[in-house]
Amino acid sequence: MEERKLRELLNSLSLDEKIGQLIQLSGEFFSAKDVSLGPQKKLGITKEMVDLCGSVMNVVGAKETHRIQDANLKNKKHPIPLIFMSDIIYGLKTVYPIPLGLGATWDPDLIQKAYRNTAEEAYASGNQVTFAPMIDLARDARWGRVLESTGEDPYLNSRFAESMVKGFQEDLPKYGIASCIKHFAAYGAVESGREYNATDMSENRLRQYYLPSYKAAVDAGAKMVMSSFNTLNGVPVTGNKWILKDILRKEWNFDGIIISDYAAISELVAHGFAQDNKQASKLAMNATVDIDMKSPCYANELKPLVTEGELDEKKIDDAVWRVLKLKNELGLFEDPYRGSSEELEKKSVLTPEKRQLARKVSTEAMVLLKNKNNVLPLNPEDNKKIALIGPYENEHELLGLWAVHGDRKETVTIEDGFKTYLNSDKLLTAKGTDILRDKSMFKGIGLSEEQIEKIVSSDSVEKENNDKAIEVAKEADIIVFAGGEHTIESGEAGSRGNLTLPDNQLHLLNKLFELNKPIILVNISGRPMILTDIEPKLEAIIQAWFPGTEGGNAISDIIFGKANPSGRLSMSFPYAVGQLPVYYSQFSTGRSVRTSTHSSRFMSKYLDIPNDPLYPFGYGLSYSKVCYDNLKLSSKEMNGESDKIVATIDLQNKSNVDTTEIVQLYLQDKFASVVQPIKELKSFKRVSLKANEQKNVSFDITSDMLRFYGTDNKLTVEPGEFNVFVGPNSDTDQYDSFELK
Ligand code: GLC
Repeated sequence: MEERKLRELLNSLSLDEKIGQLIQLSGEFFSAKDVSLGPQKKLGITKEMVDLCGSVMNVVGAKETHRIQDANLKNKKHPIPLIFMSDIIYGLKTVYPIPLGLGATWDPDLIQKAYRNTAEEAYASGNQVTFAPMIDLARDARWGRVLESTGEDPYLNSRFAESMVKGFQEDLPKYGIASCIKHFAAYGAVESGREYNATDMSENRLRQYYLPSYKAAVDAGAKMVMSSFNTLNGVPVTGNKWILKDILRKEWNFDGIIISDYAAISELVAHGFAQDNKQASKLAMNATVDIDMKSPCYANELKPLVTEGELDEKKIDDAVWRVLKLKNELGLFEDPYRGSSEELEKKSVLTPEKRQLARKVSTEAMVLLKNKNNVLPLNPEDNKKIALIGPYENEHELLGLWAVHGDRKETVTIEDGFKTYLNSDKLLTAKGTDILRDKSMFKGIGLSEEQIEKIVSSDSVEKENNDKAIEVAKEADIIVFAGGEHTIESGEAGSRGNLTLPDNQLHLLNKLFELNKPIILVNISGRPMILTDIEPKLEAIIQAWFPGTEGGNAISDIIFGKANPSGRLSMSFPYAVGQLPVYYSQFSTGRSVRTSTHSSRFMSKYLDIPNDPLYPFGYGLSYSKVCYDNLKLSSKEMNGESDKIVATIDLQNKSNVDTTEIVQLYLQDKFASVVQPIKELKSFKRVSLKANEQKNVSFDITSDMLRFYGTDNKLTVEPGEFNVFVGPNSDTDQYDSFELK
């Protein structure tokens, strides 16, 4: 529709119709059953407002979205189509690894392809917007939502934010889906890693570390932004004019839709920021939050605010205009189904091509953390019996908490994958124990006793499973233990204080250790876990994340050597929970353990645990041995901001296995008016190396890499000395230096 006509439509709407466009409700409000006694009453809004609602959340499938759209359009004087938005975060029906695993691929280009595939599935299934990517910086593994983030580094997160937004949106407006980035802003910094908790930091820290990934996504053209639950320096983001209006809209020129997180507007009252829903609505509207997700605030309070002269109707018009513009851009006025159909859906989801890409992504996400005596890869031709033991040995739930629309039946289990490599006479299997036996965890998510009984075996069955596993292990030459976190233990509202494997798995593992056979751990989890105590007794460790629909195949491809692991951690694995938040780009402090001359006690360290994580950011092994040598800079001086320096390094693959090496460039600004971290990732390259191949790799170092936020919170560059590190992970100490004149 021409913009002129769209403006005419806006001007023809009643106040109720306008307000309706700013309300988002979930599918149960539109079920065929009468909703008046159910969710509508519970939420406390009128049937009229339900009928005028502008968008629906978390309904997928052409059939259902068409039904709801048809029914809703019939009830409207002005037939403004509904827009369907869902949490399609790392896949719809073809599910990829969780984003913390995608971050470990260090392959934004591949992930862009994956997200384009997801957009195809979502488009065909009647969804026009996804509440993704989540691009919060995450440095505290106690927080369950690290699952959804690509990790602890602003630069790496920014590259993935761009590629994910582009993947979703590259085929817009005719195809593809609109991206709603979240959770703006700084939600990843919740105090103590506790869900929905306060975040508090200087503006300098916010701008330097927490905002860059959102800015990268906005610059990549994200159509929507979701305001987060948390307070930021005492002001809840969803009512925070400074962060939403002054920074996002004015400073970054973002003119898309801002949608609140789930009921976050009404939560302004619970925060102690608004006296009641009416004030909450006014505060959110003044902060330019356009759509109220699943709360009664806008539905019930905006009209009286306008009629009582407390809110300028122009603010509502501006919000409605942004909603109508997106609907128009997506062509909904011409085609309320936007090309979706059951037939297209069937042709688009879970295709062999999409599965194949998912398998490649999942394989690249795997991080080999340990490989003692090169026990991996296993050779299927060897005359060895392999015992696949543990609660994930044949488990379909490999998708993670946020794959809300995924189909677990479509998952390739680890056992399925093993069977494509091993004949039955070489493969022994035993579940051994449940994933999790702490009933209170399941009660905590509202499961009934009988539901819990289906998940947590009785003590006698548990003992039988244990005993069987030990018997099976005794017959084997090598044990692969598939264990880790239960799905419910991470993701939203999944904050935890104890991050080791659950006691029941540790109990079985300790019995297996007594057999003195090589044990390989495949760790399935939504977060970095504490593996410190079991690491010394394990021959090898593969961090598999929740690996997605093709997870079993990807794990098997790595274990049996069809793929050479190239994954590198995008979030540190802590040595102990007490270190958290732990991340590589720390400040030196005045008493660094690395450089201080103080006595051994009076330095920045713990008495009882090391400062360093068990495995650092950027770390991962492969089946090759790649040596880095001969780091050189084209000059020791950068003359002014227009100059550049080229860093080169020699790589040698000293093995007969082809590999992909993630070569990482870090810089350190040694002296600045605002202290800078001991090193920061500024670039990386995926370098393929054939067996025994040598390559020279170069990086351009330019002044924009040297910028930081000064005491005035403006970007600045200061002359002085910089260290240049190039290596396989953030622990690298291969460096050279230059001076910015
Ligand atoms: C949730 C999450 C958010 C999600 C939204 C809609 O509470 O915080 O990530 O997109 O509600 O499901």
